[in-house]
Amino acid sequence: MELRHALSRRRMRRAFSGAPIDPLVVTELCEEALRAPTAGHSRGVFLTVTSDVAAFFEAATDRQWRERSRRFTDLAGAGCVVIVTCSPTAYAQRYQADDKSDERLTHPDTWPVPYWIGDAGMATMALLLLIEEAGLQATFWGAFRHDEQVRFFADLPAGELIYGYVLIGEGAPDTPSASLAREGLTRAQRVRLLAR
Ligand SMILES: Cc1cc2nc3c(=O)[nH]c(=O)nc-3n(C[C@H](O)[C@H](O)[C@H](O)COP(=O)(O)O)c2cc1C
Repeated sequence: MELRHALSRRRMRRAFSGAPIDPLVVTELCEEALRAPTAGHSRGVFLTVTSDVAAFFEAATDRQWRERSRRFTDLAGAGCVVIVTCSPTAYAQRYQADDKSDERLTHPDTWPVPYWIGDAGMATMALLLLIEEAGLQATFWGAFRHDEQVRFFADLPAGELIYGYVLIGEGAPDTPSASLAREGLTRAQRVRLLAR
């Protein structure tokens, strides 16, 4: 599949059929996705794969949410989940090396732009495109809740930030997000060509 085609076809799919997905296939896609660049080649982005989707949701949500959410049953039909994490310390350590000279970058709190977040996004986008190419569907799901429980579930090393989750599966019909109907700038309006 051409990159342009994969890019134009990719959509967040928020419903999955429940079909199992081989975690080894997803692991291979993850390894490819980590060809994405990392600042200073810090390599501080990590992808943790699980096919125990039920246990993931138990860790990442509470029963009340699972009972109330109109999306839960659809999302729970995913066959695998990838937990995307990044290590600010890995970046700060890399930028203490002799070939880097900006003092602000030797501690995560003083970075003007936290590259570990951007790099996690780059790897996530690469993964989403690879998933599209593999004929599977995915959604990116924000990580604002149950941080500790997910850390415990995934055995994450201390200090790694959870960037978010990629739910992967065989797609089922879903209700598009209301966000898509919102008025907003077009892609063309968000590209600025300077006249000089
Ligand atoms: C950083 C980030 C966080 C997101 N968090 C969520 C989320 O928690 N739940 C969700 O349903 N979609 C989430 N999305 C998906 C966006 O809503 C979606 O990408 C956007 O509406 C455009 O739709 P499309 O990706 O299908 O083109 C997130 C996307 C990004 C980039």
